[in-house]
Amino acid sequence: MPIELVRTIFFSPTRTTARIVEAIARGTQLPAAEPLDLTPPEMGTRRLAEMRDALAIIGAPVYGGRIAAEAARRMRRLRARETPAGIVVVYGNRGLRGCAAGVA
Ligand SMILES: Cc1cc2nc3c(=O)[nH]c(=O)nc-3n(C[C@H](O)[C@H](O)[C@H](O)COP(=O)(O)O)c2cc1C
Repeated sequence: MPIELVRTIFFSPTRTTARIVEAIARGTQLPAAEPLDLTPPEMGTRRLAEMRDALAIIGAPVYGGRIAAEAARRMRRLRARETPAGIVVVYGNRGLRGCAAGVA
């Protein structure tokens, strides 16, 4: 199955994760599907359509050494088929150490 689109999916209260996943998505040079921003409170309950046929770049920040609990809760609601995914965690920018991203 050829992948023809890239979709960013993220939880990002202060937008760093959003910027990083968008930069990674641009780097694929694939046309972009509508981003799925899981940050607004209503995204904790809104019905999410099953995704298919796009490369998903999924990002969340680290809080207290772990994926932010609310991000994990919202991401557990995602459903997809035939959807390869890149997972991005963003952390740091505390104590003037700068910000880093890890990609799985
Ligand atoms: C409540 C809270 C806890 C955090 N805990 C950590 C941490 O344990 N380790 C770390 O490196 N960064 C930590 N950070 C920094 C965030 O991971 C970092 O600022 C991230 O870029 C925020 O993502 P966002 O801009 O997409 O919201 C924490 C930030 C907040 C607000």
